[in-house]
Amino acid sequence: MEKKNLDWENLDFSYKKTDKRFVANYHDGSWDEGTLTGDDTLVLSECAGVLQYSQSCFEGLKAYTTEDGHIVAFRPDMNAKRMEDSAKRLEMPAFPQEKFIDAVVRTVKANAAYVPPFGSGATLYIRPYMFATGPVIGVAPSDSYQFRIFTTPVGPYFKGGVHPLTLCVSDFDRAAPHGTGNIKAGLNYAMSLHAIVTAHKNGFNENMYLDAATRTKVEETGGANFIFVTKDNKVVTPKSDSILPSITRRSLLYIAKNYLGLEVEEREVPFEEVKDFAECGLCGTAAVISPVGKIVDHGKDICFPSGMQEMGPITKKLHDTLTGIQMGHLEAPKGWIKVIE
Ligand code: PLP
Ligand code: COI
Repeated sequence: MEKKNLDWENLDFSYKKTDKRFVANYHDGSWDEGTLTGDDTLVLSECAGVLQYSQSCFEGLKAYTTEDGHIVAFRPDMNAKRMEDSAKRLEMPAFPQEKFIDAVVRTVKANAAYVPPFGSGATLYIRPYMFATGPVIGVAPSDSYQFRIFTTPVGPYFKGGVHPLTLCVSDFDRAAPHGTGNIKAGLNYAMSLHAIVTAHKNGFNENMYLDAATRTKVEETGGANFIFVTKDNKVVTPKSDSILPSITRRSLLYIAKNYLGLEVEEREVPFEEVKDFAECGLCGTAAVISPVGKIVDHGKDICFPSGMQEMGPITKKLHDTLTGIQMGHLEAPKGWIKVIE
């Protein structure tokens, strides 16, 4: 298969249309078989549940070209499971997990020419999503849905690649206690747009959200979980019922413990403690691990000793081990790598 002629090394994180996408429909209580199509457009009722009451959820994962030339996906079973959790919380019919994985494989295979070559630093981002297509006017779940997957080749999420980021402590909340912060609902992102636009206007790369109830504990950013490293090299990550259970974060905790022999703690992280950490990073499928150099809290700077030039040493080890596993030059824990072709 011949690769597309793209400038792989300089891709950014933006949508580029690829050849095929997967589409399945839910009607009369069941999902159809689904199919691949070349059509990137869709026609919807003006009263579709997704348009009126934002009944939608999504996932994000990546496909990689390994050193020995295979195309693989990273832990798609975890995305299948999380999408089921999201769907249930939003009163949507779950898309069966086995079918989700199969649809990911089919969509990536059909777009193999867009999977960036090994060593380019780019990856194929895979976006599964589901939304209410049936008309609703009283507030109620729809009775029909569409599940789709498209792919798009991407470079780094944050411009400038691995340069440490500057965050600000947000005055907005991302998620309410007992709300939808722990699922991947489109509505969580809609309500974060004003906060991220404001942060960018003020010269920050991202927001650090605190817990909505007390504003004393670290939650996450708009699109990634936090990883901190203590001065004695412990890896600490916030535990909260209102953050997204990041697959990258869960993988990094395993890597820290089992590949790097580090102590790990998943616990509440008081904002007061942040100034005492040696390193800070954002982790997620899109973010991979992006180092944070500085957090600004209403005019007060918290500067991490790792500085504004490069990743801290533990963050770098975590990053290199994770990407080593994804790109196939380090042995993966059982079940982490799904070979596509
Ligand atoms: N937190 C939020 C709000 C996200 O949107 C994402 C991205 O998916 C993450 C965390 C990271 O999750 P994952 O590592 O599963 O991509
Ligand atoms: C991902 O990392 O896959 C996400 O969905 C986060 C989003 C901000 C791009």
